[in-house]
Amino acid sequence: VGVKVIQLDEVGSTNEYAKAIAHEVPEGTVVVAKRQTAGRGRKGRSWASPEGGLWMSVILKPPRVDPRLAFVGALAVVDTLADFGISAGIKWPNDVWVGGRKISGILVEGKAGEYSILGIGLNVNNPIPNELRKNAISMIEFIGSKLPLESVMNRLLMHLDGWYRVFLERPDLLMAKVREKTFILGKPVIVIEGDERISGIALDVLDDGSLLMDIGGQLRRITYGDVSLRLF
Ligand code: BTN
Repeated sequence: VGVKVIQLDEVGSTNEYAKAIAHEVPEGTVVVAKRQTAGRGRKGRSWASPEGGLWMSVILKPPRVDPRLAFVGALAVVDTLADFGISAGIKWPNDVWVGGRKISGILVEGKAGEYSILGIGLNVNNPIPNELRKNAISMIEFIGSKLPLESVMNRLLMHLDGWYRVFLERPDLLMAKVREKTFILGKPVIVIEGDERISGIALDVLDDGSLLMDIGGQLRRITYGDVSLRLF
């Protein structure tokens, strides 16, 4: 990961750019932009991407578009934050949180049999707008001074490379680490799946990436899809 890095000043979305070139570039190629004008989040939401944050997409070519690739991104972000002294955890299915606030979001997209795009947004030096302050944080706010974006990116690429190899060779070890870093386990949560709101206790993340919940004594497996999760 990161042998070839395409750096852009401005783009609509690095995920879209990555999809358009996926066929022509080797696996592990990275697209990174200073700003995105149409950054996208999960569930069709937009993703604010002003200058100062790390907005990147990695082009991968694993055998299939595996939703667990999001965990490759999440663990790499958690390790990168640890390198800068920030302790973070994974909020299933695809966010990284620091002290109750979101610092990073991950968006996996792809075309079966062709490519997977691992999109990562990490709030580094970008200020968080007031209306999002309650729920979002950036590294600069936590540390109190500006960080060198380039070294944050290099650390992230290194950790992505490591976790992607673990994913390919020992997905069981990847998932063991995910469980260790998932801070919602044992806690009451609400999962929103379409129009359905499912309240219960988050018990475990299973090897296929799904969430096992205890719903009033009944076990239910929530597959990783277009779901979102709230803490009580
Ligand atoms: C989410 O939390 O909903 C996922 C956010 C993903 C944002 C990243 S930024 C780089 C890449 N390009 C995009 O348009 N989105 C992802």
